[in-house]
Amino acid sequence: MSEWGDGTRSVHAGLPEPAPGQPFLPGPVFAAPYHLDPWQGPAGAPNGYGRPDNPTRRLLEAAVGELEGGDCRVFASGQAAITGLLLTVLRPGDTVLLPADGYFPVRAFATDMLEAIGVRVLFVPTAGPYPSLDGVRLVLVETPANPGLDVVDVAALAGRARAAGALLAVDNTTATPLGQRPLELGADLVVASGTKALTGHSDLLLGYVASRSAELVEAVTMWRNTTGAIPGAFDAWLAHRSLATMDLRLGRQSANAEAVAALLASRPDVTGLRWPGRPEDPAYPVASKQMRRMPGVLSFDLGDADRVARFIDAARLVVAATSFGGLHTTADRRAQWGDDTSAGFVRLSCGVEDTADLVADIAAALDAADPTS
Ligand SMILES: Cc1ncc(COP(=O)(O)O)c(C=O)c1O
Repeated sequence: MSEWGDGTRSVHAGLPEPAPGQPFLPGPVFAAPYHLDPWQGPAGAPNGYGRPDNPTRRLLEAAVGELEGGDCRVFASGQAAITGLLLTVLRPGDTVLLPADGYFPVRAFATDMLEAIGVRVLFVPTAGPYPSLDGVRLVLVETPANPGLDVVDVAALAGRARAAGALLAVDNTTATPLGQRPLELGADLVVASGTKALTGHSDLLLGYVASRSAELVEAVTMWRNTTGAIPGAFDAWLAHRSLATMDLRLGRQSANAEAVAALLASRPDVTGLRWPGRPEDPAYPVASKQMRRMPGVLSFDLGDADRVARFIDAARLVVAATSFGGLHTTADRRAQWGDDTSAGFVRLSCGVEDTADLVADIAAALDAADPTS
């Protein structure tokens, strides 16, 4: 598998061996209990009960695990995976380092829940500087970070974490396993929302944890099975079906982001443009070294909420929606969700529309949003 290109790997990830008369990807198996062998009980077959056991889920886990280069466990959402990982690893008295500029609900969970059970929570900007990791149990980074798109050098941080006896987990949501392989860069764990570019059709929620450590995977599995934070069989199947086009989707999204970034950089009415693939971007030196491809997401500032609304309203190909990584281009004014971003801050997620159409539409919408410019 690893010798193949991204398109081949996406199409074939996790599929069973070809068998005459069988579909390429077996349909979803819907089961709470399964038939048991009356004499052997659960020992007699791989499936006993739906919370720990589902063959559709296992195929998806094989697929994501192949792409990340580790063993994978899928969860009902990215939040279920991240909070599950934090609560699996952390105990009262432990210290955890989290991104100060990362996904807001993770930060809120840490201050509301982790601190309440006696975990010491430290927030560090994704781009650093990182403090001494002595005495730290877990470092969780998001790279590129959502929504600010800063990055951190994973290999360098992994070396520091290992030396200090800390675990390093990388949120790979924005990059996807085709954009970046944190386990190869030395991270102990990958955690991500599969709701975004991994599955890319804006029609399901999914999360996962992946690792090369059997011990960590076993602990995460135990957490997932006892809390029941599993995705349903249909969502797992839909996610697996969607993986096949990931290389194609990401290719177009990234090309669109590059063209949109060039447009936005040329406009005096746009400030604060961030896209890690732009050589002028502060994230570029690290991103271009550790990432295998650039994301379709960029961020910028239009000054105030009204101007953002006028821009989205005028656009024909940009719709107002949160989340990112889908087939359709979306814009999200993050401050409306209580995120600590400025009022005019926009996260734009490029879809798979034709590049020329998208660039022309965004240029026209920016003109319409500010007739004086
Ligand atoms: C970087 C990052 N991690 C985790 C999540 C949470 O994922 P989910 O919405 O699937 O729970 C998100 C959601 O936007 C995210 O952007």
